Amino acid sequence: MIVNPGGSHRVVVTKELPGARWLQLLSAADCRVEVSQSTEILSEAELRAAFGDHCDAAIGQLTESWSAETLGALRAAGAAIYSQYAVGYDNVDVAAATRLGLPVGNTPGVLTETTAQLAVALTFAAARRIAEGDRVMRAGAYHGWLPSMLLGALIYRATLGIVGAGRVGGAYARMMVEGHKMDLVYYDVRLNAELEAYIADYAAFLVAHGEQPVTCRRVGALPELLGACDVVSIHAALTEETQHLIGAPELAAMKEEAVLVNSSRGALVDEAALARHCRAHPRFRAGLDVYENEPAMAPGLAELDNVVLAPHLGSATTWTREGMATLAAANVAAILKGWPVWSAARSLEDVLPFLGDQEPPHAAPSIVNADDLGLPRLAAQAPTKEDQQ
Ligand code: DGY
Repeated sequence: MIVNPGGSHRVVVTKELPGARWLQLLSAADCRVEVSQSTEILSEAELRAAFGDHCDAAIGQLTESWSAETLGALRAAGAAIYSQYAVGYDNVDVAAATRLGLPVGNTPGVLTETTAQLAVALTFAAARRIAEGDRVMRAGAYHGWLPSMLLGALIYRATLGIVGAGRVGGAYARMMVEGHKMDLVYYDVRLNAELEAYIADYAAFLVAHGEQPVTCRRVGALPELLGACDVVSIHAALTEETQHLIGAPELAAMKEEAVLVNSSRGALVDEAALARHCRAHPRFRAGLDVYENEPAMAPGLAELDNVVLAPHLGSATTWTREGMATLAAANVAAILKGWPVWSAARSLEDVLPFLGDQEPPHAAPSIVNADDLGLPRLAAQAPTKEDQQ
């Protein structure tokens, strides 16, 4: 599909994106937008064929490999930006892009609550055996209410563990702690002072209502968290250091009836070890939205009743996916127009000015290597690299 064929900047988009706003922004920036109709994951050879030897910008997907070679070819084709249709960018060699002088955009802010809600949904789907119940109903195997049918775990006044207390982890923690009066333990290299203050205020609120307070504790080592928690949810970025953060020893350190949720990146968990652990411990439960080698799953996982599986739906609401398209396009339009980078893109409030029907700010909402490239920012406040993951 080609939109605005007379546009003077050639922008290649590797998948159809939802909504119309993103196309309006690109057309208004004088872009000819070429959108791949393929629903298959494009190989690096297919990406290079798509952008060819002349391309001003590309909007790509988290499923694609944007290696140093592919980014080099994109740069050689004349591109001024690679814009990722995702907040995570572990599939992009950002260091190589920086060496090439190529800005890399992403889409923070609009995924936070949506992804946290999916993690909550997976937590309860696993703990309360919703998928198993669904299979019973569809199989016509429900023959009437029974006292001991499909008993799950009550998640109330229990202990919640968060691995990575950034934006999504923090939002999930608030939903779970506030909704189900849980004590929080979190593991993160950085102190999340905002989250700690929020939970302290909530604890004071409970006391004011004659209830036991909840607690919040940051631990310096993962094993301290694993043994203490009834629910463990992973919200860390995937890097060389965090690959297989949860493997066989970590699973063995968890409670026999714990719930493990991963809505971040599949390779944070050793999936084969998880399958073995779930087979050996039927009362342990897992809720997975992401997989080590998407779209494949580790052998055996699909046969396990104590695992609930979703196909990477974390950000899958219409509002979020349209917002991601708008931000990805706004990054392209701004760089092509030579505009600076937005002051900060930490929260939804930060990126809201880009999302309505009004004229967006004359800035790129989020360029992850902006500071390394020395790109100017619209205002003084600059986000850290961690803010942008
Ligand atoms: C992202 O943007 O990184 C998410 O994984 C998409 O759901």
